[in-house]
Amino acid sequence: MDPIAKSCRLEGKVAIITGGASGIGAATAKLFVEHGAKVIIGDVQDELGHSLCKSLGANTPIHYVHCDVTSDSDVENLVDVAVSNYGNLHIMYNNAGISGDPNRSIATSNNDAFKRVFDVNVYGAFLGAKHAARVMIPAKSGVILFTSSVASILGGQTTHAYAASKHAVVGLMKNLCVELGEHGIRVNCVCPGGVPTPMLNNALKMNKKETQEVLCKIAVLKGSVLEVEDIARAALYLCSDEAKFVSGVNLVLDGGYSTTNMSFISALVNNNHA
Ligand SMILES: NC(=O)c1ccc[n+]([C@@H]2O[C@H](COP(=O)([O-])OP(=O)(O)OC[C@H]3O[C@@H](n4cnc5c(N)ncnc54)[C@H](O)[C@@H]3O)[C@@H](O)[C@H]2O)c1
Repeated sequence: MDPIAKSCRLEGKVAIITGGASGIGAATAKLFVEHGAKVIIGDVQDELGHSLCKSLGANTPIHYVHCDVTSDSDVENLVDVAVSNYGNLHIMYNNAGISGDPNRSIATSNNDAFKRVFDVNVYGAFLGAKHAARVMIPAKSGVILFTSSVASILGGQTTHAYAASKHAVVGLMKNLCVELGEHGIRVNCVCPGGVPTPMLNNALKMNKKETQEVLCKIAVLKGSVLEVEDIARAALYLCSDEAKFVSGVNLVLDGGYSTTNMSFISALVNNNHA
């Protein structure tokens, strides 16, 4: 049981989590079922998705559905499965994402690779919101959540495609917050700093330990490291009734990393001036 939990904070809720087979999505799926939600994970990693469900036990209300978030019919089906299995959809967590081609140079960027990042990170999130809204608007309630990134508030940290896509996710979240607020639907983002998932480890070509070491070195907040469970807890809060008046928020989980730019201090330290 989640150590911070005092009760089942999502009792009776039906939640979809895209990109739920791995990393942040998988941790959130586990936490949501612990808190009483019925969860459907949509992903393209079928084996991983099925084995996650199996590992939680046959009686746990969690199901895997193959869903490529860039396919309108796959996302439509994902939402339809939730509604036909459980009669409703309360939470749509659009979390699936890719980092894409690591090339950071605009001059030599691959056009198709840029479009692919937008396809998954932005169009996929748009489709998730669109199909969820189809169910949530008549119900006059619901929560739509996205995973943005510190790349949505900082420049120069990632590729152009990734940074632009995560800025776009926040723009989409804000716009939806206004339209869907009319219908009692809350819309927010969780905005993580670096966390060693397969996506980041592969992008950095490092193993989990090496990624963690780099993240510790650059961290503003020392003595603690960001883990996928921390992001899952933020998602839990935003999706629960405790956040009943929270909408339009890009909730940053980066230990203060994005509040500063350490390069000035680093330069002074490196030149023995501080
Ligand atoms: N790891 C980090 O440092 C970090 C930081 C900020 C934001 N994020 C964001 O968090 C989200 C989750 O990533 P993660 O770090 O847990 O990585 P991850 O690779 O562990 O998980 C991402 C999941 O998305 C799935 N996915 C990819 N393309 C898909 C598609 N077309 N359709 C359906 N599913 C698809 C993958 O199969 C995978 O299971 C992403 O949106 C990512 O951009 C990650």
